[in-house]
Amino acid sequence: MTENNRAPVGMFDSGVGGISVLREAVRELPQERFLFFGDTLNAPYGTKSREQVQALSRQAVEMLLERGCKAIVIACNTATSAAAAGLRAAYPHLPIIGMEPALKPASLLRRGGVILSLATPGTIAGEKYARLMARYGDGVVSLPCPGLMEFVERLETDGPALEAYLMRQIGPYASRQIDAVVLGCTHYVFLRPVLNRLLPGVPLIDGNEGTVRQLKTRLEEMGLRAPAGSEGSVELLSSGGRDALESMEKLLHA
Ligand code: DGL
Repeated sequence: MTENNRAPVGMFDSGVGGISVLREAVRELPQERFLFFGDTLNAPYGTKSREQVQALSRQAVEMLLERGCKAIVIACNTATSAAAAGLRAAYPHLPIIGMEPALKPASLLRRGGVILSLATPGTIAGEKYARLMARYGDGVVSLPCPGLMEFVERLETDGPALEAYLMRQIGPYASRQIDAVVLGCTHYVFLRPVLNRLLPGVPLIDGNEGTVRQLKTRLEEMGLRAPAGSEGSVELLSSGGRDALESMEKLLHA
């Protein structure tokens, strides 16, 4: 790790989903430099084993550290669940900020109905999720969504096939009172418009704002904030070639 507060903040995800976190981070911390890695070649993470996701996350972090990053944001709920603890043990001095499905803020919106929690199979099967459910799981229905991130990877954020997929998931609850929907995967944040249309008036809760707030706090605590007036920047990297980079660019500026 470098002590240089002008070093970039590294972020990674299995693909374009983490761009939703990056967008929020750029808005909140415009003077920082960001280096984002989308591991498209190895996507999806959400249907891989815990060990596979741990190994891929370790590779991603090593690559970002080789490029001099001062902090890491795991812009992926699945990778956080599988790998954050191990990464923190391996790099005890490195600020590593992870994510979790926003069950806690969603639980505050419960009015006796159900809360639908959409996340990857890996996230929902993880211990971290079980701990969250034990504390904030009243009325929560967990819906693993294999195949959903792939729509976003294809930039298919609307249309009949996506609607049909979502209705298969949420349709069985449509006649109940839905108090909130948790977007427990960073890819799903890009589905806000279609979900707003399918579930008018239902609050959609993601963890991006909280994650960026935590990044800011950690950088401040460690004296790693870029000096006021610094010029921020964003650099995108992908294991998936030019098409994947173009998709990331598009979503960053969408
Ligand atoms: N974006 C990731 C998350 O937040 C996972 C998508 C995937 O690779 O399955 O969980």
